[in-house]
Amino acid sequence: MKYTQELCPIVRKEQLNQTTFSFTVASQTAVESMKPGQFANILVEGKTLRRPISVCGFSREEGWIRFVFEVRGEGTKIMSEMNEGQHMDILAPLGNGFDIDPREKAVFVGGGIGVPPLLGASAPYGANATVLLGFRSKDAVILADECRANGADVRIATDDGSLGHHGFVTELLAARLEESPCDAVYACGPKPMLRLTAAQAEKRGIRCMVSLEERMGCGVGACLVCACKTRTPDGGEKYLHVCKNGPVFDSREVIWE
Ligand SMILES: Cc1cc2nc3c(=O)[nH]c(=O)nc-3n(C[C@H](O)[C@H](O)[C@H](O)COP(=O)(O)OP(=O)(O)OC[C@H]3O[C@@H](n4cnc5c(N)ncnc54)[C@H](O)[C@@H]3O)c2cc1C
Ligand code: FES
Repeated sequence: MKYTQELCPIVRKEQLNQTTFSFTVASQTAVESMKPGQFANILVEGKTLRRPISVCGFSREEGWIRFVFEVRGEGTKIMSEMNEGQHMDILAPLGNGFDIDPREKAVFVGGGIGVPPLLGASAPYGANATVLLGFRSKDAVILADECRANGADVRIATDDGSLGHHGFVTELLAARLEESPCDAVYACGPKPMLRLTAAQAEKRGIRCMVSLEERMGCGVGACLVCACKTRTPDGGEKYLHVCKNGPVFDSREVIWE
């Protein structure tokens, strides 16, 4: 894993809803070898541990990386108060991203704050992507218009029925997989959503990549905080690091507990 520490000027800050922020930073080195689905460990003033945030989008040619995050606790609150012109200290790119092939038909399944990495991963697919997004309610919807602007067929589910399908995003997945074949499914979101997504894809023999979220310390495989149990090809079990071996895994490797 080749990563770099870079001080990146914030070139654009947007507030997407009450608790969610988008930061675009200029990058020269970290962006060089970046893949969709990887993440950065971001330094927060006054905190020892960096905060892991997925790469939502990036451009090597234009030299920028975008992060979209929700304010959850103190660290993300402090990050949300940064402004254009200030510098973000990032360690990136970290982890293994999505293996994508935009010539294929792919379905992207995102839940809540799991949606940001799927914007960047689905963008190269254009109309070959179906993007299924699940949120608590209409007010929590983020990045749907941007996925649509990339040419994707975007469908939304909300828990309270205030927008789109009233119910779970995995119900949209079942309907989509009935409609027409697809080559791969990519998912990021809460564990129960990932588990159901994986089960549906595996039942139909479709390749499925899931991005897992675990509490993290170092973010680079040194502290063992982020261990997750996985299945080996010979039917055994072994612990891997979400930060170093993931966060993206082939769903068949994951032992859901
Ligand atoms: C690979 C990965 C990618 C992520 N991508 C995004 C993203 O794109 N957008 C987004 O909004 N959130 C993302 N998260 C979750 C985000 O890292 C946490 O919400 C954030 O670390 C919380 O920090 P805090 O200081 O606000 O909260 P606190 O709860 O105060 O954090 C205390 C400590 O726990 C750690 N921690 C708390 N929650 C998490 C968590 N869910 N995952 C990992 N460490 C945690 C913090 O890093 C910190 O060390 C991602 C997590 C991982 C593991
Ligand atoms: S966070 Fe330290 S090993 Fe993964």
